[in-house]
Amino acid sequence: MDLQGELIEHPYSVYDRLRDTAPVCRVTGTDGTPAWLVTRYDDVRAALTDPRLSLDKSNAAEGTYRGFALPPALDANLLNMDAPDHTRIRGLVARAFTARRVEQLRTPIRETADRLLDRLGPAGSADLLAGYAFSLPIIVICDLLGIPEDRRVDFRGWTEALVAPDPARPQAVKEALVAMLGFLTELMAHKRSRPADDLLSDLIAVRDAEGDRLSEDELMSVAFLALFAGYENTAQLIGNAIHTLLRHPEQLALLRKDPSRLPAAVAEFARLEGPALLAIRRFATEDLTIAGVTVAAGETVLVSLSAANRDPARFAQPDVLDLDRDTSGHLALGHGIHYCLGGPLARAEVEIALAALLERYPTLELVDPAPQWRRSLRSRGLRELSVRYEAVRESP
Ligand code: HEM
Repeated sequence: MDLQGELIEHPYSVYDRLRDTAPVCRVTGTDGTPAWLVTRYDDVRAALTDPRLSLDKSNAAEGTYRGFALPPALDANLLNMDAPDHTRIRGLVARAFTARRVEQLRTPIRETADRLLDRLGPAGSADLLAGYAFSLPIIVICDLLGIPEDRRVDFRGWTEALVAPDPARPQAVKEALVAMLGFLTELMAHKRSRPADDLLSDLIAVRDAEGDRLSEDELMSVAFLALFAGYENTAQLIGNAIHTLLRHPEQLALLRKDPSRLPAAVAEFARLEGPALLAIRRFATEDLTIAGVTVAAGETVLVSLSAANRDPARFAQPDVLDLDRDTSGHLALGHGIHYCLGGPLARAEVEIALAALLERYPTLELVDPAPQWRRSLRSRGLRELSVRYEAVRESP
């Protein structure tokens, strides 16, 4: 198997090998073009704040990086930008995601989680990925952005096509992008004609009053990123966390006994099984050296957040789930100026999803303990999560 295939099948054992033997290693990137893969914690953390590593694709050497051919109206997003454009746009969006704003969302998020669990009923078995882990963040982000219920469509199918492309259906990526663009164009027209108290209406108002602060493409791209970056990772982390917890009954018991451990537990799930295996690709703006390896100007650099989070030089016994661990400095949500804007929201959602599930179902078990990971170089997530549940504790 080639290195890319191995990374898809067994990311963590390949990362272990690379950290030891080739901490900056030549690989084939997700788009089939060459890239450098960085795996040690210190190098990854430094790369995330290195101004010589740009997110702007125009810094890629000609004929190298291809990536997704996004239309301009989706491409002008924060994850393709450096300062000062990045600083300007992030400032406009950041106020929707402050820790204070997220605190106000906790009660509505819990109500949504309870409604979803009501549908599962007191006992049975179900795929919690489809019926819970995905549904919750989709509803939360649609509410936050102000997407009316009758306009909520198959977001999951679209993101799946981008995040874990099916090699047998190469046209699916383009179809998903066209569908997303069509959806967002109609949505923006709808919100313009009927503004309300939500993030998209606020941004449209900024755009229409002060066009120099936000272009039309940037406006669309903010909506694109917030909607699609927001729920996919959160859903996968909810799924990964439930799966990991159900495979560790002793840690599950600790959490049930003392739910105040939940925030720390969520950080540990993110460190151990964070859905973003890789940060967004970066491009060297000049020749530079990482761990003694020369990266030439224009080359693509992939930094592995998951490899860093399991680096034994940073976290002792990194493959062990330990809810008492000091997880500070984990990189599951990135680091530096691109640190996840939705971090506080994502943490709150995962915490609430777990709290509601554990409170309502004293009995929870995996139907099939062997995980079915989907095939992706960049995203760690399950295909399904079948769980048996009961609102009554089984007698010992
Ligand atoms: C567990 C869930 C999440 C994970 C693991 C995650 C992960 C990340 C990571 C690793 C980055 C940095 C990428 C880089 O530097 O290359 C990032 C950026 C970002 N995330 Fe998240 N994210 C999550 C949830 C969310 C949510 C809920 C939202 C919004 C609703 C969101 C919106 C964003 C945005 C807008 C950026 C770009 C920030 C910038 O470039 O300044 N994310 N996320």
